[in-house]
Amino acid sequence: MPVPHRRRLRRAAVAAAALAAAVLTGAPAATAQTIGFAQVGSESEWRTTFSKDMVREAEKRRVTLILADARQSAERQVATVREFIAARVDAIVIAPVVVTGWDAVLAEAKAAGIPVFIADRAVESDPSLFVARIAANFNLEGKLAGAWLAQASRGRCTVLELQGTPGSAPALERKRGFESVLAQFPGMKIVASQTGNFTREGGKAVMEKMIAAGLTRNLCAVFAHNDDMMIGAIEAMRAQGLEPGRAPLTVSVDAVTEAFRAMALGHLNATVELKAEIGAYIFDVVLGYLAGRRDYPKWVLIPSDIHAGPNPSPRAGPDTADPASPKKASLTVP
Ligand code: AHR
Repeated sequence: MPVPHRRRLRRAAVAAAALAAAVLTGAPAATAQTIGFAQVGSESEWRTTFSKDMVREAEKRRVTLILADARQSAERQVATVREFIAARVDAIVIAPVVVTGWDAVLAEAKAAGIPVFIADRAVESDPSLFVARIAANFNLEGKLAGAWLAQASRGRCTVLELQGTPGSAPALERKRGFESVLAQFPGMKIVASQTGNFTREGGKAVMEKMIAAGLTRNLCAVFAHNDDMMIGAIEAMRAQGLEPGRAPLTVSVDAVTEAFRAMALGHLNATVELKAEIGAYIFDVVLGYLAGRRDYPKWVLIPSDIHAGPNPSPRAGPDTADPASPKKASLTVP
């Protein structure tokens, strides 16, 4: 059960006082920092791993971390940031639910002299309102998924897309990246696209509807913006006698433990890795900044990777094959 904000902030104050006492009694100095972390929620395995890593890393660095779970609500998250400002924390880390709606509260933090760091997801705001964003390249992740599929299907494929939370940076950018690769292949196209809100239940429900609408007939592939939605979709497909991993091909993003299990079973073909244990990247920047370092780039990039199972036999979507269009022989990831 999430701890109510006020109680959490009180606990943080107690923890901060304890740390201050430790300093007075001769323990190592400069550790009494309190950092507010406005987290998206706990919608996916990736997210919970990330939260646990932040807590672990804070303990390691003897920093007090106030972790607030927004349960995927942008309004709740903005309210939390205002509470952090009122509590006069030393720094605020935000993993924003959506990209919009941040200018006012970021300006308030700046006016209060509290540095803000954007982690994981992005904001569409004036960059002078935050110190840096520490995150992977979601657009590249979409491109990697698209490139894998172009190769596996020899550039001929009908695709069902399961999108993440509408208005969130990973949903927007993974879609853009994936589509930019498909645009190079006249034989590849997305035939339907719906949101499953990055949850397993969401992915399952959307896939059940897609199956009922006949969209999986002669389908080449499913692309999901995260592994949790894909795992839900795999469950729905298998329940209807489909063979995800063979027909249709399956590719998603995150590379969580469950995805590797699904790959070992042959249900998932590939997953693009979004590193979840990124606490060290974030605290390096936040604590470095608090210690006086000022030369951080606006985007501290976390690298991406792709993991694929054994090569599946290609199964092109018959509807999209266009004999009049010359098939491109090689792929350039734009
Ligand atoms: O912002 C990163 C995305 O958010 C992850 O891919 C997804 O699992 C999470 O919900």
